[in-house]
Amino acid sequence: MSLDLFPETPAVTERKEPLAPGAVVLRAFARSGERTLIEALESVIRRSPFRCMTTPGGYRMSVAMTNCGDAGWVTDPSGYRYDALDPASAERWPAMPQVFRELAAHAAAEAGFPAFVPDACLMSRYEPGARLSLHQDKDEQDLESPIVSVSLGLPAVFLFGGQRRAERPRRVPLSHGDVVVWGGPARLRFHGVQPLKPGHHPMLGVCRINLSFRKVR
Ligand code: SIN
Ligand code: FE2
Repeated sequence: MSLDLFPETPAVTERKEPLAPGAVVLRAFARSGERTLIEALESVIRRSPFRCMTTPGGYRMSVAMTNCGDAGWVTDPSGYRYDALDPASAERWPAMPQVFRELAAHAAAEAGFPAFVPDACLMSRYEPGARLSLHQDKDEQDLESPIVSVSLGLPAVFLFGGQRRAERPRRVPLSHGDVVVWGGPARLRFHGVQPLKPGHHPMLGVCRINLSFRKVR
């Protein structure tokens, strides 16, 4: 009998799962650099903290958001837009950390979109109960570039729909380190996130964080 004094860290297997033409889930793709990624995330949110924004319809979003990069996505009672400045500080959003840019470019290339250079990263924090209703990402001028979406922390169910809101979405469970890429014929597909279930993640605690990379301009 051997004593298991040094339990192995669970094996992390990267694999590629097609979702639709132009869309793929890269399982565990962000796991290998997770520590540097989370350190970079922390440095961004020290300067531009997460906040719950208000929709043009006057609802307070359950998901808390912030941004880094040249442009940041904001919503307030006057509408949705990309803005070079963080409205909370009236200063530029924090620069996009190099580890973020590299991860996004590598994931895009792996999904068949070489030379992706994002200029915006929308960061979302979900606490238990937070959800994101079905929507299209269409505020970007550049619809040739894909969306690269990195999941960290608690697991969630991602909803991946069609080109019309009425199409029933696929339910895609996503875990820490999974990356979803959609572009080309899938670029304008509806998507959302089901209400987050309670739980505790060893690195991020009681939340899920999503990094959504885009080329806006
Ligand atoms: C988004 O659609 O911007 C975020 C999607 C997600 O949190 O997985
Ligand atoms: Fe989105």
